[in-house]
Amino acid sequence: MHEPLSSTMDVLVVGGTGTIGSAVVDTLSPRHDVTAVGHTSGELQVDLADPESIDRLYDAVAPQDAVLSCAGEAAFGELLELTTDDFSRSLSNKLMGQVHLVRHGLDVVRDGGSFTLTSGVLSQEPMPGSAAISLVNAGVEGFVRAAALEAPRDIRVNVVSPPWVAETLDEMGEDPSDGLPAAAVAEAYRTSLEGDMTGETLDARALA
Ligand SMILES: NC(=O)c1ccc[n+]([C@@H]2O[C@H](COP(=O)([O-])OP(=O)(O)OC[C@H]3O[C@@H](n4cnc5c(N)ncnc54)[C@H](OP(=O)(O)O)[C@@H]3O)[C@@H](O)[C@H]2O)c1
Repeated sequence: MHEPLSSTMDVLVVGGTGTIGSAVVDTLSPRHDVTAVGHTSGELQVDLADPESIDRLYDAVAPQDAVLSCAGEAAFGELLELTTDDFSRSLSNKLMGQVHLVRHGLDVVRDGGSFTLTSGVLSQEPMPGSAAISLVNAGVEGFVRAAALEAPRDIRVNVVSPPWVAETLDEMGEDPSDGLPAAAVAEAYRTSLEGDMTGETLDARALA
């Protein structure tokens, strides 16, 4: 058995400047040493769709106790309107980008550390227009279940599945009360970081 991690961890939050990610940074910062990474914003930058960019990020920040991803883009649109390029970009960004974060990060995370990725309820609760997003989200969840079986040195791998976020619905002109506030969604990431589960999909609604 490895020694347990200290209660204060070095945590990298990819997408840490976004709606969910900034709430995660706020939730974790009082206790942990958090670095917020954006695409064009944040303390450091990365492009999930570019594996070499992920390697450059890891070279700059290694070692870490945990990597949280609150990022990943996928195309929303009617099945008959989505192009092959829409699917390819969705797969290379939200799915393979997060897969690369784990594959390229296994040497970066300390013994007993963790990865927490992001999917979304559209993996299990699809709607018209969500074919590419549902595909990608389900792929992330399947990857996490399998990767957790092989991650070395007691490293854990989980994924948070957020519902619609209240702030996002508000920005879209929809009723925010149909969603969960980002601060409540952030609790699922904290649970994944500080808990001992692995290979799990954490439904943020159940942990809020
Ligand atoms: N919001 C929701 O209602 C909701 C619900 C379910 C699932 N999700 C999922 O949760 C994740 C975060 O959603 P959000 O609403 O918080 O997004 P958001 O507010 O748009 O923030 C996205 C974050 O990711 C970064 N980012 C954008 N493109 C990137 C790239 N190519 N490589 C690395 N980082 C990149 C952004 O950085 P910059 O600001 O520098 O561009 C920002 O920090 C997404 O995967 C989304 O599908 C969201």
